[in-house]
Amino acid sequence: MKLAVIGTGYVGLVTGTCFSDLGNEVTCIDVNQAKVEGLKKGIIPIYEPGLSELVLRNHEEGRLQFTTNAAEVIPDADIVYIAVGTPQSDSGAADLSAVWKVVEGIAPHLREDALVVVKSTVPVGTNGKVFDMLQKLCGREVNVASNPEFLKEGSAISDFMYPDRVVCGVRNKAAEELLQTLHAPLVRTGKPILFMSPESSELTKYAANALLATKISFINEIANLSEKVGADINDVRIGMGHDQRIGFQFLFPGLGYGGSCFPKDVRALASLAETLELQPKIMRAVDEVNVHQRASLVRKIDAFYGGDVAGKTFGVWGLAFKPKTDDIREAPALELLNYLVEKGAIIHVHDPEAMENVEAQFGDKIQKYCKSEMEAIDGADCLAINTEWNEYRTPDFKKLKAKMTTPTIFDGRNLFDLGTMEKHGFTYFSVGRRSVDVSKT
Ligand code: UDX
Repeated sequence: MKLAVIGTGYVGLVTGTCFSDLGNEVTCIDVNQAKVEGLKKGIIPIYEPGLSELVLRNHEEGRLQFTTNAAEVIPDADIVYIAVGTPQSDSGAADLSAVWKVVEGIAPHLREDALVVVKSTVPVGTNGKVFDMLQKLCGREVNVASNPEFLKEGSAISDFMYPDRVVCGVRNKAAEELLQTLHAPLVRTGKPILFMSPESSELTKYAANALLATKISFINEIANLSEKVGADINDVRIGMGHDQRIGFQFLFPGLGYGGSCFPKDVRALASLAETLELQPKIMRAVDEVNVHQRASLVRKIDAFYGGDVAGKTFGVWGLAFKPKTDDIREAPALELLNYLVEKGAIIHVHDPEAMENVEAQFGDKIQKYCKSEMEAIDGADCLAINTEWNEYRTPDFKKLKAKMTTPTIFDGRNLFDLGTMEKHGFTYFSVGRRSVDVSKT
């Protein structure tokens, strides 16, 4: 099949590349010429394991092209995917201006039997608006479907190739048949391709993300309670998870959810409900708990030092909002860095992938961008951990202690065992577990 994918951001690029890898002829379109030239050489503007290799291979084998010229590609396309960004606007609602621009741009070039598929995460009802707009611009009915994505950063390619399900919002049999054929290779995984109305598919995406975010805020609230009542959230989490109705996934406490999806989607869903004169109390609470949780490491640090961190050296491990990504959007680390900068602390940071993004935002407000995690704690008064990168899980604790001026760790991801911390003589604060304070013994 011939596909045009508009927008080479995270979703568009993964979608276009994976569909080309499944044997389709795909052209990815972007307005940014430099980006397009880079993509032809396999230079991708984001960090996603395996993506660069897959882009390059499919491009070299002629199935994957990149261009800025939509007019040249659209007339040929069986399916036109819209995968442009829908950032959060000031009101919390999704900003759809990029989608409208694309719709205007493609309208004059669409083939009579082409299927337009909305991939971007958009408020319920957007599919209908795209349909109306294209009807007006083209003077005929254009077939418009929705196909929301459920990709996780860091594992996007395997999420695409081995989905739990594919959700398609369609208006007619023709769209269903096209999308069935396109996704047929994924059926080998035994997982379903679900067809429903465009509105249901749009809401499925938001509802799924909102429930996952709810699980995270819920467990964080229970973690905070655990700290107060002397329980261990890890035992509580496992005790809960064995109930098959609850399960283990997305019940890890931490510093709240970040990234480009959960915070934005929860707010967009709440804001949509409010415009429809509903009161989305759960969604608002989930967001509120998350915003509060994101500052929980800062609160612990502030309490421990009585607010006096000026001149103290902080080793900071982990800046990305989660491991295996360089993405720092809505990352809890930003909360900590802003606090430390404002208070005049000395900051030494390390992250395997996100350093460039942090440097672009903080520049010389951060004293040292370190090549290794051990360099970051050299001479540090304490270590603060924001992201659970695997390489941080089993440090040489003796070396760690020897390098620090005081052995104090603030761990937002529960990486270490409390017994190990005691044995090595660290003062240790984590999430939802008792603190280990060697300064008091
Ligand atoms: C998410 C959805 O999983 C995906 O389906 C959707 O399409 C886009 O949004 P992503 O943002 O890449 O994907 O990351 P994910 O792995 O889901 O984690 C989201 C956030 O939740 C991270 O900040 C992570 O640290 C946090 N999280 C996740 C927890 O705090 N606890 C958990 O148990 C799980």
